[in-house]
Amino acid sequence: MSKDQPPPLPGQSDKIVQVENLSKKYGDNIAVNGISFSLTKGEVFAFLGPNGAGKTTTVEILECLRNPTGGQAKVLGYDVSKRSDQAEIRKRIGVLPQDFNAIDRLTVRENINYFGAMFKHQLDADKLIELVDLKDKRDEQFKKLSGGLKQRVGLAVSLVNDPDVVFLDEPTTGLDPRARRDVWGVVERLRRHRLDNRSWTDNRVRDT
Ligand SMILES: Nc1ncnc2c1ncn2[C@@H]1O[C@H](COP(=O)(O)OP(=O)(O)OP(=O)(O)O)[C@@H](O)[C@H]1O
Ligand SMILES: [Mg+2]
Repeated sequence: MSKDQPPPLPGQSDKIVQVENLSKKYGDNIAVNGISFSLTKGEVFAFLGPNGAGKTTTVEILECLRNPTGGQAKVLGYDVSKRSDQAEIRKRIGVLPQDFNAIDRLTVRENINYFGAMFKHQLDADKLIELVDLKDKRDEQFKKLSGGLKQRVGLAVSLVNDPDVVFLDEPTTGLDPRARRDVWGVVERLRRHRLDNRSWTDNRVRDT
């Protein structure tokens, strides 16, 4: 393979994420200790562990926000440690950070458009609002929403660039059982939709 050839697309390898012997140390503290796993297209993968287990560190390495100190990780065939690959990964992933917060005084719709403006292509805010079941709250300020509804705004924001893979860091923490089920229901709906090889909202179709 020539050096300039792009890595295999997920459709070809079906491996969306590949992690091998990944580790991260902060000084003497080993936050991630040689973990390996891989994820296939259409898979919803949940990473469980107590506080401080290294979940956020691992996810943020996959999002190219932190550098690993050992091992290898690939997202959509791109290497998280290669500078030239990092921009490609960022374009194609969706992220809901553990400490997600939107702009308090903007409405649901304004927030989605605000975050969407960071990307070259953004999906239609109204379609995303429909997808996460927030039609009634479209024009409500973010600060007035309950915790569960705020998480749904976060989910919509994580999809605004029509990503091929989405990383959700503790999307249901602090929610009551019903709100948790609602959030997981949205995730399952998204998974099925994407497995049908459609864009999240049918607004923009990409041939991956
Ligand atoms: N920027 C940092 N500098 C130094 N140590 C860090 C840093 N970020 C995380 N750590 C340490 O790395 C370890 C893993 O932290 P991490 O946040 O990845 O865990 P987590 O599994 O996401 O925990 P939680 O369930 O509380 O979110 C912890 O010991 C933490 O103190
Ligand atoms: Mg965490």
